[in-house]
Amino acid sequence: MGAPKKLFIKTYGCQMNVYDSERMAEALAGGYEPTDRADEADLILLNTCHIREKAAEKVYSEIGRLKRLKDDRPDLRIGVAGCVAQAEGALMMERAPAIDLVVGPQSYHRLPELEARARAGERALHTEFDEDKFAALPGRRRKRAPTAFLTVQEGCDKFCAFCVVPYTRGAEVSRPVARVLDEAARMVDEGVREITLLGQNVNAYHGADGAETRSLAWLIRRLAEIPGLARIRYTTSHPNDMAQDLIDAHGDEPKLMPYLHLPVQSGSDRILKRMNRKHTAAQYVGIIDRLRAARPDLLLSGDFIVGFPEETEEDFRATLDLVERVNYGQAYSFKYSARPGTPAAEREEVAADVADDRLQRLQALLARQQRAALEAMVGREAEVLIEKPGREAGQMVGKSEHLHAVHVEADAAPGTLLRVLVTGAAPHSLAGRPL
Ligand code: SAH
Ligand code: SF4
Ligand code: F3S
Repeated sequence: MGAPKKLFIKTYGCQMNVYDSERMAEALAGGYEPTDRADEADLILLNTCHIREKAAEKVYSEIGRLKRLKDDRPDLRIGVAGCVAQAEGALMMERAPAIDLVVGPQSYHRLPELEARARAGERALHTEFDEDKFAALPGRRRKRAPTAFLTVQEGCDKFCAFCVVPYTRGAEVSRPVARVLDEAARMVDEGVREITLLGQNVNAYHGADGAETRSLAWLIRRLAEIPGLARIRYTTSHPNDMAQDLIDAHGDEPKLMPYLHLPVQSGSDRILKRMNRKHTAAQYVGIIDRLRAARPDLLLSGDFIVGFPEETEEDFRATLDLVERVNYGQAYSFKYSARPGTPAAEREEVAADVADDRLQRLQALLARQQRAALEAMVGREAEVLIEKPGREAGQMVGKSEHLHAVHVEADAAPGTLLRVLVTGAAPHSLAGRPL
């Protein structure tokens, strides 16, 4: 065997793609070592996102750029993975002759075989849905950052009227309990102190455990028994799967961090219905109230779509009212983007300038709430999991329990848990001094 070839992966989209990219690198570790320079790579993989039109467009422009690299380096192979590959892989191959390989999100265990075919001059495509794509991967031992993602559930059966995920990621599947526990134990051995459990609907987790089926709350409590693991988080959740045992875990499992991303999309019942969300605004707020009763300092995050087809000013105001009522610590908001093949794509769109104006108003409100949440931390104690050196000398950066970035003047190694006094708030982060 010659020297290992070089692999460059560019990741777009959600955290699950970040996790998948790591596992793709592991799947190809037999012949490739990672590089962060596209211009020295022998294989470039784009791990793509299809959620909004802009996300998908980026991929085509990137392929245009990469094509030029290929002119100078005929041995370079270019592959497309992720949700755009799943949604329109065959079409992409037609449109872009530079693509040698297309692999859908459920087929990454086939990468070595697909790579070999692409190397041999074939254009290889695989977008079937296979079971548990990572079950077969051995994975190498390696040194790790203190925080890691771990996918426990994938796919979605909810079919919100605007969303491509049920089509690109397929039906909801949970990984068996034993696989998750093994992978978590190994991560901790390799230096991980905080694990974020991932799933498109992570709180719908229902993993097999022998003859039993276990919930996400059960899984979290089992993971919390791993001695070296200090913190557990999970994302993304759907309101309708926010079970009582999970709410209870927020109240009494100390390793479960007081932060929750719980998207609602809209505060208008009329729009929620047209979105096929299957819950009302009041039901969502009721869940938040129960969560806060269990864990008063819980910091809430959410996702919002403005300008969904037929959204009126009154509907939009209901969203603002809901935001006022919930008071988010941070949130994401998007202008509606029609996605081919989804039910909402058939409907009449809100005028672009109206949607832009609503997005600005919503984002101004969310930014005010985020700033207030950061400022409310000043003068309080926080525990920071140190991740890496900060921008200035002598400074380290880590995350608080509430997922705030905290800059600390301290000589603490990554992976250290540090108690600090929060001394200041900036627009997106905090400053702290060790206690
Ligand atoms: N499974 C997660 C997240 C899915 S995608 C969930 O259900 O919450 C992340 C976010 O992108 C969504 O919550 C939604 O706010 C946004 N999104 C999805 N489809 C969109 C579309 N067609 N246009 C604009 N935003 C969209
Ligand atoms: Fe998309 Fe809705 Fe499923 Fe979330 S719950 S992934 S928004 S279909
Ligand atoms: Fe994008 Fe696919 Fe994630 S569409 S948001 S990469 S599940």
